[in-house]
Amino acid sequence: MNTEAKKRIAPAAKLRLNGVSHAYGDGEALLTVLDGLSCSVAAGELVAVVGPSGSGKSTFLSIAGALLTPSQGEVWIGGRSLGGLSPRQLAELRLHEIGFIFQGANLLPYLNVEDQLRFVAKLARIDTGQAARRADELLERLGLSERRRHYPDKLSGGERQRVAVARALMNDPSVMLADEPTASLDADRGREVTRLLAERVKAEGKAGIIVTHDERILPYCDRVLRLEQGRLSEERV
Ligand SMILES: Nc1ncnc2c1ncn2[C@@H]1O[C@H](COP(=O)(O)OP(=O)(O)O)[C@@H](O)[C@H]1O
Ligand SMILES: [Mg+2]
Repeated sequence: MNTEAKKRIAPAAKLRLNGVSHAYGDGEALLTVLDGLSCSVAAGELVAVVGPSGSGKSTFLSIAGALLTPSQGEVWIGGRSLGGLSPRQLAELRLHEIGFIFQGANLLPYLNVEDQLRFVAKLARIDTGQAARRADELLERLGLSERRRHYPDKLSGGERQRVAVARALMNDPSVMLADEPTASLDADRGREVTRLLAERVKAEGKAGIIVTHDERILPYCDRVLRLEQGRLSEERV
């Protein structure tokens, strides 16, 4: 196989942003949030993104996760450029290739833990048997096997966030994106959730990004990037 063909099949970076700019509003009221930002995340790598409130971290994550189309620049996920994909194709891509985790777990109150996971597999039309096996594996890995029949209101904050991590992993996405996932947890629960997320990112070869204010979780990350003036730079830790 020649090098070009290999590159197409096994790109070094699972997630890549190239010269991404984004502005909200228009005309006089234009607010430029991202300004020629580039970065890439390899398989098995968990990258932390830090920066002050309002610096554009959530905007960056929304663009990386195909929720928002940048004003300029390119996004590549799993070797595929998002430019030119229709809204429908982007929705499919999010369902199969991106796992999102937010500050709150956002679980469905009327589904037990196991069904939270099966529900997202169903949306992605994943075979029921396969989904059941995947759910079992993830519940085990995230220490939730004993909680599989519990409803969200019977779980602790840390458990709910672990369910959110399991749910994000359920469809075996290439990219895992977390926006301040430990903000509502105490220090120990925050570390535990991050440790488990880091372990899954490594074990399953995903590209992971975690936006955070929480310094205590940085030791679980491979690199720390700082978002400032619309660009990312490597932070020495
Ligand atoms: N949908 C939007 N419309 C207009 N301005 C927005 C929108 N979303 C975010 N912003 C503005 O963009 C800037 C960056 O926001 P955000 O990406 O949420 O930053 P962070 O997550 O780092 O706090 C802020 O000034 C915010 O007010
Ligand atoms: Mg934010």
